This record gives sequence, structure tokens and C-alpha cells, in this order.
Amino acid sequence: MYEQKLAQIAALKADQPQNIAIQCFDPAYFATLGPDEQARLMTCLNSGIENPDSEMGCYACQPSDYDDFRPFFAKALARNHRVAEDAKHTNNWDLSSVDGLPDEGVLDMAALGLPPLSMRVRVGRNLADFPLPGSMTRDQRVALETRMMAAFQVLIDHPDYGGAYHSLTPGNLNQITQAQYQELVDAHIMFKDMSNDSYLLAAGIAADWPHGRGCYVSDDRSFIIWVGEEDHLRIMCMERGTVLNRVFDRLKTALDVVNGIDGLTFAMSDDYGVVTSCPTNLGTAMRASVHIQLPNLTADGTDQKAKAIAKPLGLSVRGAGGEHTPIGADGTVDISPSARFCITEAQIIAALYKGIALLKAEEEAAG
Ligand code: ADP
Ligand code: ARG
Repeated sequence: MYEQKLAQIAALKADQPQNIAIQCFDPAYFATLGPDEQARLMTCLNSGIENPDSEMGCYACQPSDYDDFRPFFAKALARNHRVAEDAKHTNNWDLSSVDGLPDEGVLDMAALGLPPLSMRVRVGRNLADFPLPGSMTRDQRVALETRMMAAFQVLIDHPDYGGAYHSLTPGNLNQITQAQYQELVDAHIMFKDMSNDSYLLAAGIAADWPHGRGCYVSDDRSFIIWVGEEDHLRIMCMERGTVLNRVFDRLKTALDVVNGIDGLTFAMSDDYGVVTSCPTNLGTAMRASVHIQLPNLTADGTDQKAKAIAKPLGLSVRGAGGEHTPIGADGTVDISPSARFCITEAQIIAALYKGIALLKAEEEAAG
């Protein structure tokens, strides 16, 4: 039944050494699975088969996939995150657990000689009682949005997080216009049209666009929850400033509020921490970033040099509009620690601070 897919995978193994899912797929393990499990695992790999240039090449489609298909995912996780196959993840937001931080754990970029920068910390979360986005039906996407709209009432009534929900779902009570949506995208608040992303399309994650998609935005626009992107929820704090603790601490406090809302139980794995669609995000599901100008390292108009310098520092470089976008005209790039798994939340924000210090030195040396 899977002859064609198995032949495709076998051919890609030879041609695409960077495609982790393809490289970690073991036909002998696949043959041991029953028909339902075989169908589920093949669904996880579809994006990497349809997009041979993938680096991760797979997405989980059910909250239990990482545990149910451990022989596959343990290998893929080990390869992507450079950890042992039996590595276990621990979550910890307490900055006092991290050694070598400045006094009182205040991560103030002004001490590095930097001006106020746009700072953002996001975490992905998925509800335990829905399939992950790659396997949802349109009705389930809309039901999840309805569940979240009820939950958002708690935030609307909250003095620190009051705001409004904006929906892209046709006919939703809170539906916004295309122009309003574009304004939110341009303000870095709302996510891009997923149906333009070939990885998410092949994964089934972008299906039924724009049904069940939207975002909650606080009145001051600095606390945001995406609904229906790559994970059910992406929860984030964003503001301009120099003290990274501002966005980190605010996000933790907000997360505790969201976590306490009736009807919201987040998918967690005992061994792997926070469950996410993409194995690259598993564990913390956290990306902590700043937008920073690196005119010397981007003098050729691309991020190639900045990427080469940032990689050994454990940092990823993205464009000014996020993943798979070009750098800004003024040499602005998005810098974030690459690690998400087998690292704590506290270590990630500390790694951002330390990485910025090192990258700033490289930028000056390149001048
Ligand atoms: P994610 O961060 O969820 O992995 P993206 O990389 O696509 O997704 O980024 C989503 C949006 O967040 C984009 O508009 C991007 O420019 C914006 N963004 C990311 N980091 C920052 C930041 N530090 N300041 C302002 N906007 C940011
Ligand atoms: N699926 C793509 C790949 O394998 C992107 C993975 C990382 N990005 C993400 N948004 N999850 O290369």
C-alpha cells in the first residue's frame, strides 16, 4: 500500500542528507506498525517527502505522536537538537537557576551599549484534547477557535491583559477585514497567510485557511495569542526596550493566567516537555528574539554573513518579517537562540543576552 511512498523515501535518502525525517525513517520499524499507525506516521512525514529541501522534514499530527512513534522521533530529535536519543526535557523559568548572569539576573542590553530594541518572546502551546493542526478537520479548527473565544473572556476582563479577539474565520462575530488583517501582519502582531508556505501546506497544517484562525491582542498590543497557526496557540509578549526580563517575566505571568482558564489543558509529554507540531520547537516551544541592525554583517544586502557568524554562537538569524523573509532595508535582522529542547526557558533568555553581546562584538569587528 505504501510502495510508492517508501520508494520516494528511499530515493530521497540518497539525495537529501540534510532532510532529518527522511534520514531517520527506518522501513523495518515502519513494517512493524499496524495499518492505523502506518497511516499516522506517513502523515507526519508528508511535508518532508513533498519538500525534499526540508531540514526537519516532519510534523507531529497528534499530541501523543512523539511518545507513540518514539523509535522514529527519538532519532529525529537527537539529530536535530544534537542530544542523546534517550534525552529527557525539563522546563524551568527561574533565572536564579542560570549561572553567570549579571547582578540580580537583570538582562539589560543597555549595559551592552545597545539602544532600545524590539524584544519578543513566544511560546507554542497545543490543547491536549484536539488533534494537532496537521490532522484537524475544518470543524475542529473552528471548534478550537470557539473554545478559545470563551477563554479569552477571562483575559478581556483582566486588568493586565484586557483586549480583543480578531478572527479571520468567514462569518465569525469578530471577523476582521483583509485590510485590518494586513495592518496586523505589518505590525508583526498577526501571522502570515499560511497557505503560501509549502511546508505547512504539505503537512496539512495550512489546510482550511483562513477558518479557525485569528489572534487575541491586548489593548497595549504587547500581549498576543495566535490561534490556528503551526501550533493551536502561540502566546507572546513583545515591546521595545532594553531589559529582556520585561517580556520574559510578563509572558510567564500571562501563561500562568491562560493555563488556569477552565477548558484549557495543554499537551505535555512526560519525557519531552511541551508538545508542538514541529519537532524543532518541542520542549520549551520558546523563541526569544530581538530585532537588531547589523549593517556591517549585512552590507551585501543578505543575511548570509550574519548567519555564518551567528551559527557557532547558537543563534538563528531570520528576516525582519520572520521565518523565510528577507532582511530589512536598514540591515535589521531577527536574532534568537536556536535551541528549544533540553534547555530551560531561563537558559534561553540568558542565551539571547549573551549571544547579543557576542554578535555585537562581531558586528563592530566587521566595521
Ligand atoms: P515565530 O516567531 O512564531 O517562530 P516568525 O519567525 O514567522 O514566527 O515571526 C512571526 C512574527 O513575529 C513576524 O512578523 C516577525 O517579524 C515578528 N517578530 C519576531 N521577533 C520579533 C521582534 N523581536 N520584534 C518584533 N517583531 C518580531
Ligand atoms: N518544515 C520545515 C523544514 O523541515 C521548517 C521547519 C522549521 N520551521 C518551523 N516553522 N517549524 O525545513
